[in-house]
Amino acid sequence: MESIETKRLDLKEWTFDDGPELLTLAKDPKVGPKAGWKPHESLEESIQIINTVFFAGTTWKIIDKKSGKIIGCVGLEDDKKRPEIKSRELGYWLGRDFWNKGFMTEAAKAAIDYGFDKMELDIISVCTAPENRRSQKVIDKLGFSYEGTLRKAYRIYDGTDRDVLCYSITKEEWKNL
Ligand SMILES: CC(C)(COP(=O)(O)OP(=O)(O)OC[C@H]1O[C@@H](n2cnc3c(N)ncnc32)[C@H](O)[C@@H]1OP(=O)(O)O)[C@@H](O)C(=O)NCCC(=O)NCCS
Repeated sequence: MESIETKRLDLKEWTFDDGPELLTLAKDPKVGPKAGWKPHESLEESIQIINTVFFAGTTWKIIDKKSGKIIGCVGLEDDKKRPEIKSRELGYWLGRDFWNKGFMTEAAKAAIDYGFDKMELDIISVCTAPENRRSQKVIDKLGFSYEGTLRKAYRIYDGTDRDVLCYSITKEEWKNL
């Protein structure tokens, strides 16, 4: 996968050296649980996530060009609902200090462009929880269409079951925006 540059951000491949910065962002209990994952508790855990989760998909760290700091993550992961289709599922999060600045919409647009242009995908999906209004706003701004809600379809790290709001956008729809 290639690095991507946008107006304010650099999207780059994660490395093991990013463990400490990842831990600082991902230990915040207001970040991971909204996406369904447990807040990180140790440097070892953050490094393990880089190795097992981030290296397994097409996942970029998001760097604020101004400060040079990592501010979050965006990725195109396996779309488990479309196993035979040229599809990926968009996933993302930002450290809490970096919310409400338009960074995620900017990063996600670049990742979607990459998915359709470089990975030659036909469709990109994204899912979120009914309570996650911030994520729904990002999804709406990106131009995704709402497909429906899968009830009790996602068991998160703490054992609770969540409804899943499903959205997608096709290559044609993205190009016509
Ligand atoms: C979901 C998440 C990434 C959204 O972050 P966000 O900061 O709300 O989204 P954006 O980066 O696109 O910023 C959008 C906001 O920045 C504001 N903004 C400020 N300056 C801006 C600028 N220069 N350009 C664009 N928007 C700007 C916008 O007005 C917008 O606010 P609004 O939606 O109330 O109108 C973030 O809340 C998060 O990480 N949550 C926890 C993890 C999570 O839920 N992940 C998704 C799981 S499905």
